[in-house]
Amino acid sequence: MLFSKNKTLLGLNIGSGYVKIVELKDSGSVYTLSNFGMAALPVDAIVDGTVMDTSAIINAITNLAANLKIKKKRICTSISGHSVIVKKITLPLMDESTIEETIHQEATQHIPYDINDVNLDFQILGPNQTNSDNMDVILVAVKKETINDYLMLVEDAGFIPVVVDVDTFALENSYEYNYEEEEKKIVALVDVGANLTCINILDEGVTCFSRNITSGSRLITEQLQKRFSLNYENAELLKLGSPEGCKADAGTALSAINEAAFSIVNEITKAIEFFHTSAMNEARVEKIILSGGGAKIPNIAQSIIKNTGIETEIIDPFRNIIIPEKNFDLDYIQSIAPLAAVATGLALRKDEVVRK
Ligand SMILES: Nc1ncnc2c1ncn2[C@@H]1O[C@H](COP(=O)(O)OP(=O)(O)OP(=O)(O)O)[C@@H](O)[C@H]1O
Ligand SMILES: [Mg+2]
Repeated sequence: MLFSKNKTLLGLNIGSGYVKIVELKDSGSVYTLSNFGMAALPVDAIVDGTVMDTSAIINAITNLAANLKIKKKRICTSISGHSVIVKKITLPLMDESTIEETIHQEATQHIPYDINDVNLDFQILGPNQTNSDNMDVILVAVKKETINDYLMLVEDAGFIPVVVDVDTFALENSYEYNYEEEEKKIVALVDVGANLTCINILDEGVTCFSRNITSGSRLITEQLQKRFSLNYENAELLKLGSPEGCKADAGTALSAINEAAFSIVNEITKAIEFFHTSAMNEARVEKIILSGGGAKIPNIAQSIIKNTGIETEIIDPFRNIIIPEKNFDLDYIQSIAPLAAVATGLALRKDEVVRK
């Protein structure tokens, strides 16, 4: 038997917009990027975190892996959307084994699904600040059906799923690895994906608030489609800065993008304000870290700063990771870095499974 402790897993982030693969090499004290790539998925391949077009996703994964010449089979992937529920709950003080026995019963009050249909996990945060007889616990529930769909998908694509994580936790992992010096702060990790925006507020590295907004950068594409009578592909190109088949001048297009993005900025602002009004001890978010493709929306960080008054920065998931210049185009890596944040967090997970 052998413990393959130092082996890393391949990070496979199956987003509803793009599939991303990140492979890292663990050289003892540092990680080096050994592979990165992404591939677009058809619009309806994944809807609200649910797999709709299995073969399109398998094709995208296998083609991407072949293009990148990936050899590693053992992977870490993740799930997001309505199939995942992360909730802070309060329980009477008890030890971990007692929670394990009672968590099913307890979770029925907090989870909007049949408790037999979800996998449950929890993490004890510590004593409750207002009642010392109680403690705060993070409850995580993931729909079994969704886990099974993702497991089948990656197995059919020829991989061995070792860990099925949650997008939010992978992002947290990536942030913590790259921004160690900020561990004492209250930060809001805000991932603006294609169809989903996830807000996860960390207080000294521990989730104290999380909220999903069911729209993302694709909303902007749809607004551009309507505004300039474009098909989806051309509206997407216009959003990404290459306005083929569109007569709009760059200034008009940009203001249409910013207008459309404003509803996302507004939702983010509302969620943070809600946290501020409900938080204990007048806790305030000190910094917002943006990730996902939506972090690339022109001026989005400035717009968030203007609305919230909070310092906002775009994540660099490779901040503490070595990128060998000879193997990668650094400008390209820098330009897609925020989209790679979840996949990098997945690739940082260790393969600690005991192998025969
Ligand atoms: N420069 C850009 N400006 C605006 N949007 C962009 C830009 N680059 C990429 N995007 C958008 O980002 C989205 C993809 O981001 P990301 O890969 O983070 O999403 P995803 O993980 O696939 O989706 P989700 O997490 O919502 O399931 C797409 O909608 C894409 O159009
Ligand atoms: Mg995503």
